[in-house]
Amino acid sequence: MRKHGLGLLTVLLLMIFFLVAAHSQEEMISVDNSIFPNPERVASVFEHEAHNEAAEIDECNECHHVYEDGVKLEDESSEDMLCSDCHQIEVSDDQPSLMQAFHANCKGCHRSEKKGPVMCGECHRKERGGD
Ligand code: HEC
Ligand code: HEC
Ligand code: HEC
Ligand code: HEC
Repeated sequence: MRKHGLGLLTVLLLMIFFLVAAHSQEEMISVDNSIFPNPERVASVFEHEAHNEAAEIDECNECHHVYEDGVKLEDESSEDMLCSDCHQIEVSDDQPSLMQAFHANCKGCHRSEKKGPVMCGECHRKERGGD
């Protein structure tokens, strides 16, 4: 009996181990667009780790920023939040919309660095499928 119980426990622990391992290996390959009520486009390609390595971006807050009184805080970052936690779907008087925030961030850097895609279909790639 006791031996049998241990076997089951081992199997259970192994299952938990593999579930956790599989989950943590899940890489971001596109920006989740499910926050948009009716997405018009295929979610944009964005291989988080590979992209930031290739683009040689060292600071997380290059994208995951925090502002105070309109000033970006150099030592703070917000990678534990979604962009949509602060940027609204709709345009408001003092804020660009969430889509504009994404486009300004992504395309803005690609334009100024003259590297990376700026054409719709290069990010919203049909053949890549959604998220
Ligand atoms: C070029 C822009 C950019 C840079 C640089 C960047 N990120 Fe992100 N990251 C994103 C975007 C976009 C998302 C998706 C946010 C959303 O869906 O609202 C994201 C999501 C995340 C998430 C949550 C989603 C997940 O499954 O991974 C974590 C955690 C994260 N980033 C950590 C980091 C850390 C740590 C760094 C610095 C080492 C970093 N990021 C640098 C753009 C960036
Ligand atoms: C903690 C809240 C917060 C989070 C999270 C956040 N932002 Fe912002 N963002 C702001 C504030 C505040 C401003 C300042 C101007 C304003 O209010 O529109 C701003 C400005 C911007 C701007 C215009 C200025 C600039 O830096 O180029 C862009 C583009 C932008 N955010 C994109 C993003 C993206 C993309 C993400 C997710 C990776 C993100 N933001 C996450 C609060 C946030
Ligand atoms: C701070 C600058 C910067 C920001 C912000 C940035 N990129 Fe890039 N991106 C680059 C650079 C530089 C390259 C070219 C890298 C290389 O040389 O391969 C690139 C390349 C790419 C590529 C082509 C490589 C590939 O994976 O197919 C895609 C797609 C891309 N970026 C998507 C995005 C998206 C989506 C965002 C916003 C969530 C974003 N980028 C934000 C700098 C940036
Ligand atoms: C550098 C990459 C990039 C380029 C170029 C780009 N987008 Fe996006 N776009 C994004 C990201 C990231 C989002 C956030 C959600 C997602 O992944 O679709 C987004 C969101 C959107 C959304 C809101 C979500 C939806 O599907 O309804 C629309 C509409 C959109 N883009 C249309 C366009 C159009 C039209 C163009 C060309 C004029 C374009 N985009 C070019 C990266 C890009």
